[in-house]
Amino acid sequence: MRVGVLTGGGDCPGLNAVIRGLVRKAERVYGDEVIGFLDGYLGLLEDRWIPLDVEACRGILPRGGTIIGTTRHTPYMVEGGVEIVKETLARHDIEALVVIGGEGTLSCANRLHEEGVPIVGIPKTIDNDVGGTEMTFGFDTAVQIATDAIDRLHTTAESHNRVMVVEVMGRHVGHIATWAGIAGGATVTLVPEEPFDIQAVCDSLVRRHERGRFASIVVVAEGAVPAEGTMTVPEPTVDEYGHQRLGGIVNVVASEIEARTGFETRVTVLGHVQRGGTPTAFDRVLSTWYGVSAMEAAHDRDFGTMVALRNGEVVRAPLAESIAELKYTHPDLLDAMRTFFS
Ligand code: F6P
Repeated sequence: MRVGVLTGGGDCPGLNAVIRGLVRKAERVYGDEVIGFLDGYLGLLEDRWIPLDVEACRGILPRGGTIIGTTRHTPYMVEGGVEIVKETLARHDIEALVVIGGEGTLSCANRLHEEGVPIVGIPKTIDNDVGGTEMTFGFDTAVQIATDAIDRLHTTAESHNRVMVVEVMGRHVGHIATWAGIAGGATVTLVPEEPFDIQAVCDSLVRRHERGRFASIVVVAEGAVPAEGTMTVPEPTVDEYGHQRLGGIVNVVASEIEARTGFETRVTVLGHVQRGGTPTAFDRVLSTWYGVSAMEAAHDRDFGTMVALRNGEVVRAPLAESIAELKYTHPDLLDAMRTFFS
């Protein structure tokens, strides 16, 4: 059997480990062949690809990014795109296409599956917001990077008696903010799930500083939103795919904190640092497990499914069900986090 694979959307640590896992299973266990379409769905549209075998995957387990490139391009952006995709697959005798992506890439995969393309999905994103799975790979690495950064910010904040406001990724959900906020001992963490009141944030900082602490860490998810009528934030710009470019809310939050409390405040935007570099051991294992399991699903021709982590094991779940809704931060975890707010 010949299998195609592509990576779509924002990159994330663990993509190469997934590719390595599925190629190993394909070649060594099934005797199948894998080719990697370059730059996401664009490679399918433009018929650009590379052969992927065990040899080609040597050394990529700890490497961040994706050796086959990624874009947010979809076949639905092009007139007749779906037909082009089908023609490309037929030209290369591809009987199964493994699509590794987040919400946008997997929604497109589901549409393609409904139009007859034989697809198996693998959920990825540092944001961890894909429904149907307890965890996407890349998330653990991002949390570790953000936590390390917060640990470093503590010491400089304490030396200068400052409030350090740090922005982490998370456009619709606050998984990274919540986990890194708890792990890093943040004073306040702002997540997209719960609109925040900037005055309440300031009151909390003042209470803490009145009790004798003069340094604080405020974690802000890039998608955090102020409660209506409390604060004005700039409109996000949009990229060539109509994807909102977030990032920057932290500047408004920081200047409001400084203006309302008088505490000296500094900003750190972690940005794409959270997405780059080597995956943690956990992400390497999860990625490998996903890759091997997706190859099993492809070989079984169990199309329209996505591999997912549920109750500690990797299972197959219907793609449509998994992308039906975003996975929000568990309210109990948000409660646990709030226990530490002043
Ligand atoms: O992959 C998800 C994500 O990391 C979001 O949290 C972030 O808003 C977005 O990607 C930024 O992606 P890019 O800058 O690559 O368009």
